[in-house]
Amino acid sequence: MSSSTVITNIATLVTNDPSLGDGSPLGLVRDAAVVVEGDRVVWTGASRKAPATDNRVDAGGRAVLPGFVDSHSHLVFAGDRTEEFNARMSGRPYSAGGIRTTVAATRAAGDAELEATLTRHLAEALRQGTTTLETKSGYGLTVEDEARALRLAARHTEEVTYLGAHIVAPEYADDPAGYVALVTGEMLDACAPHARWIDVFCEKGAFDGEQARAILTAGKARGLHPRVHANQLSFGPGVRLAVELDAASADHCTHLTDEDVAALAGSRTVATLLPGAEFSTRGPWPDARRLLDAGATVALSTDCNPGSSYTSSMPFCIALAVREMHMTPDEAVWSATAGGAAALRRDDIGRLTPGARADLVVLDAPSHVHLAYRPGVPLVRQVWRRGVREV
Ligand code: NIG
Ligand code: FE
Repeated sequence: MSSSTVITNIATLVTNDPSLGDGSPLGLVRDAAVVVEGDRVVWTGASRKAPATDNRVDAGGRAVLPGFVDSHSHLVFAGDRTEEFNARMSGRPYSAGGIRTTVAATRAAGDAELEATLTRHLAEALRQGTTTLETKSGYGLTVEDEARALRLAARHTEEVTYLGAHIVAPEYADDPAGYVALVTGEMLDACAPHARWIDVFCEKGAFDGEQARAILTAGKARGLHPRVHANQLSFGPGVRLAVELDAASADHCTHLTDEDVAALAGSRTVATLLPGAEFSTRGPWPDARRLLDAGATVALSTDCNPGSSYTSSMPFCIALAVREMHMTPDEAVWSATAGGAAALRRDDIGRLTPGARADLVVLDAPSHVHLAYRPGVPLVRQVWRRGVREV
């Protein structure tokens, strides 16, 4: 039997179980303890009631919360786009066209280089408290390059997404229908075994609603679950398509009509907001308040990629969401943990209650509110994943 460890003297524990502690969605327990056995949480509650265990760790009056669940990133890539960012900060607008630069660099890179870049960014995310991370293909856009990206990603995370439909591959610029046939045919055959999810960039300059429907439907028929890059740069059909197909998540949600908001609120499709993208493209902020007030489930993620959002920091996204998107600190922390888990249709992560995976963060602060209150400060002191302290 594996040994048990109690983490005690926790000033504020975020459980994300509203039946615990203060009864809020975060289920805050003050002066708390967590007991970990093997890779699971086996007990959560007030320090003074903690059961006897083999080992004891003193959290020193700090806050503990579930590890962040980053449900949207693009980490299989080569090169960077510093020049494009520089030009944008001098006034040039963001467009999907920049993706081609990364496609060329990614195709030219060897497996070892791609995997080294991926692991470097995963380690960077872990140091900032991310214990589950979804990542996508989408910078290969050939059968071999997409399958390679997914194969490499699957060595590091179980949350792997096939995004052959990121943009139309340059070779098919004059034949988008031919590219959709490839993405739903030979490329899907090669990619489906390595992925859990299928995604499409539904946007002007990428794929329209009918193309997106064909791609997601083909993926579903192969056992992949849909998620959608929806309504990022303009109004469009992406969000409603995501809801219609019961996608786990509609991501970006920057340009929403009242119908889009109502559709999300009436569904189990999570609205995943990616404030790093608006920060780095100077786009308008998604209206988190409007979605929350309508009753939609909101997740926060980094969208980490070399073009529109080159940050792996969930604490940074929390601070942006609070300052710029009018979320409360409690809402933002929920969305970065339980919200991300909902966007991945997972119930074993994003909470700290018996049976959950022992993925947790110890902050150098007495409360989770400091994640927004002290922006840019490296507050993540310890990270435990599957019951093992890794940071
Ligand atoms: O989520 N919107 C599409 N894809 C990425 C950007 C990719 C890139 O610019 O390289 C996004 O923002
Ligand atoms: Fe993205």
